[in-house]
Amino acid sequence: MSEHFVILGAGQAGAQAAATLRQRGFAGRLTLVGSEPYPPYQRPPLSKKFLAGELSLERMLIKPERFYAARGIDLLLNTTAEALHLDARKIALSKGPPLAYDKLLLTLGSEVRRLPVCGHELAGVHYLRTVADVQRIRADLRAGQRLVVVGGGYIGLEVAAIAVQLGLDVTVVEATERLMARVVSPLVSEYFQARHAAAGVAVRCNTAVTAFSGTERVETVHTAAGDELACDVVIAGIGVLPVTALAERAGIDCADGIRVDEFTRTSTTDVFAAGDCTNHPNSMLARRVRLESVQNAADQGKAAALNMLGDRQPYTQLPWFWSDQYGLKLQIAGIPSGAEQQVLRGEPAADAFAVFYLADGQVMAVEAVNRPRAFMAGKKLIASRARVSAAQLADTDRPLTELARQTAATT
Ligand code: APR
Repeated sequence: MSEHFVILGAGQAGAQAAATLRQRGFAGRLTLVGSEPYPPYQRPPLSKKFLAGELSLERMLIKPERFYAARGIDLLLNTTAEALHLDARKIALSKGPPLAYDKLLLTLGSEVRRLPVCGHELAGVHYLRTVADVQRIRADLRAGQRLVVVGGGYIGLEVAAIAVQLGLDVTVVEATERLMARVVSPLVSEYFQARHAAAGVAVRCNTAVTAFSGTERVETVHTAAGDELACDVVIAGIGVLPVTALAERAGIDCADGIRVDEFTRTSTTDVFAAGDCTNHPNSMLARRVRLESVQNAADQGKAAALNMLGDRQPYTQLPWFWSDQYGLKLQIAGIPSGAEQQVLRGEPAADAFAVFYLADGQVMAVEAVNRPRAFMAGKKLIASRARVSAAQLADTDRPLTELARQTAATT
């Protein structure tokens, strides 16, 4: 009898894994289960062009719906897995009979962190993670309204950029001392803060939200400093958490994500995991990480598919991330842990620059603003572990591609 592979989670990682399994010749039964009503779609445009009303859901689909039928991939949409019975190899679903599997892949993603403050349930307080969230937000936004964005990370800043362009009066409230502190250098934070200010967004750092109040719907945002910000609508982007509850309840090892080894295997035989929900070893960083990124979801989803087919493929990809605010492209590669030096290449004032992180003469990470070539060269330099000097990186008369090529040849 042919094997049945089940993928739980119809996001980027799940879609990639399903497509890879068929592409690599898996001829058994294949089921992809998703809790949302749509086939897998790309999430990055949600807080950008989809929020702006410039992109349809159709165009965000990772593959058109017919792709799944044509390849014999059963899409179980609007369906949530409620329990994993690992000994029996069965999954209890929110509807229909239990699903039996031979091999299981968990691509459950992340869920938004919610503000545990008074008034968080008031109408007009939104979070942004799904198509349905954005549809609700769009129905609630009108030019001239006062929007308070809670959280100055990727989501908050992308939303602020779109909302100010839609004619709203926007204030961003960030708990820490600078924007995107989790992911970028102070220089890049400062640059984006200036761009938001120039676009008319009021940015308040060192300001945590302590409560919301209002009668019918949210009217005021209260901060730790005692300020009261009058508002018509709130969008919170205060981070995400890996979806682990289902795996934890089944006894699969979890610690800041579902723990997998370099072959995307969980602590249970024939159960694999990939994407945002995993905590995995990264050979380039020489430690375990949990990543919130499309790159990781797609690449780890692909690696998981190959490993499910018995092809031992260690997952060793270099992490990269990106954001888009006012058409400014921010691209990040690597993770700057242990870096002792930051080197600026180019000019923030010219809206095109990159920051390289160096540790012991090796590039650990790069942040590029409107510098796609510096980003690409940075990726190569990180991967090659080549030794370069701060002066070489900062010298804009010397193309980085040449440096990357030369160092690749000598390592
Ligand atoms: N008040 C104000 N700000 C807060 C509060 C609070 N109570 N709690 C957290 N924050 C701030 C954090 O300091 C941080 O700067 O919210 C910001 C959240 O930023 P991220 O961690 O980048 O999370 P978010 O912007 O929600 O994006 C989540 O979605 O874009 C995708 O995968 C991408 O990792 C990203 C994820």
